[in-house]
Amino acid sequence: MSKHHAPGQIVTPDELRAVAADGTKLRYALMELAGQIPDAITLGRGDPDLNTPEHVIAAARAAILDGRADLPVPVAGLPALREAVAENLRRDNGIPVQRDDILITDGGQEALYLLMQTLLDPGDEILVPDPRYTSYDEAIHQAGARMVLVPTYPEDNFDLRAAEVEAAITPKTKAILIISPSNPTSAVVSRANLTAIAEIARRHNLIVISDEIYEKYVYAPAEQISVAGLPGMFERTVTLGGFSKTYAMTGWRVGYVAAPADFIAALTAVKAATTGPLSAVSQYAALAAATGPQDVVAEYREIYRRRIELMKHGLADLGFSFGEPQGAFFVYTNAASSGIPAFELSYLLLREGHVLIFPGTAFGEKWVDWLRISVLQPEDQLALALERMAGVLARHR
Ligand SMILES: Cc1ncc(COP(=O)(O)O)c(C=O)c1O
Repeated sequence: MSKHHAPGQIVTPDELRAVAADGTKLRYALMELAGQIPDAITLGRGDPDLNTPEHVIAAARAAILDGRADLPVPVAGLPALREAVAENLRRDNGIPVQRDDILITDGGQEALYLLMQTLLDPGDEILVPDPRYTSYDEAIHQAGARMVLVPTYPEDNFDLRAAEVEAAITPKTKAILIISPSNPTSAVVSRANLTAIAEIARRHNLIVISDEIYEKYVYAPAEQISVAGLPGMFERTVTLGGFSKTYAMTGWRVGYVAAPADFIAALTAVKAATTGPLSAVSQYAALAAATGPQDVVAEYREIYRRRIELMKHGLADLGFSFGEPQGAFFVYTNAASSGIPAFELSYLLLREGHVLIFPGTAFGEKWVDWLRISVLQPEDQLALALERMAGVLARHR
């Protein structure tokens, strides 16, 4: 899009509509439009607005000044970082991993792409809960595999129903993708459903891909459970995690995959042929994050929890409904009461209200009445965004 727009030119609704079927392109087109509005309040992307902890920045600085930035790093990652990630996963998640079961990647984004290319063959099917983080669509498509959507429902806060998962299985099914906490719904899969899905995976001999990138942002009484820590599951589970969300480190690009060592070796071979190792500076920063004080994560969690509460109350006042967010930092809300399709509404909110919110169609074709709101702005900005939204709705209702 950027090639076609001089600064100050506005992306039109028709231009947006042209990319509407591709969730990723739609998100980027809206962000470009927001970039042209100086006082836009951006509740679009899922990148934490909070600061990367000081001790993490200090570790990166030290690595540069000590000359460690320029030393060769193994493709699979710094041994000390792989060890630290393994230790945290053993302690916090009950996953029986060792250093060789960890691959350090260029963000969760590279992790998800590498693992789909390595795991899936043309003709394979993979079950994907809907709505979804559509970056997976492209990774699955490029592997020549077919995505089979598993519906989730607002009535049970978008929990992933084991019965729906089992109903979608065919002889071609190779894997089940679970994203918990979820982007975009902020749902956390319940213990009952997760254990039932694990049992289904064992019975049908399926692999589970568990994207737990939002794992540290779960709000009581919801609880975070790692699939790979359930009995008999480590051997058939690939866990994806990262530092972007946990430590507000999106730009440092540190993600990881945890899986049995032979699968990690296969992924590492693909990584060697594509990007090679992640920058050493980022890895030293991540090492400090993984081994340093963790109270900052609890602080961030409380900040997000309060913001979600504020947003929920504001949305309820606007007459919007939502599944109860249990994790992450999104509110996925049904805006049908506005009488305006969410796609048009997100455009109006941006053009007239200067508030960037992604329409549900950026996360799946059928979510025409839904909006995903990221609470990644301070509370006063969220309150102002809600005021502006009320103003736009009053004009168009
Ligand atoms: C569910 C999910 N997985 C993976 C990622 C990739 O994160 P990153 O590449 O920033 O580590 C994201 C980013 O928004 C996400 O929402």
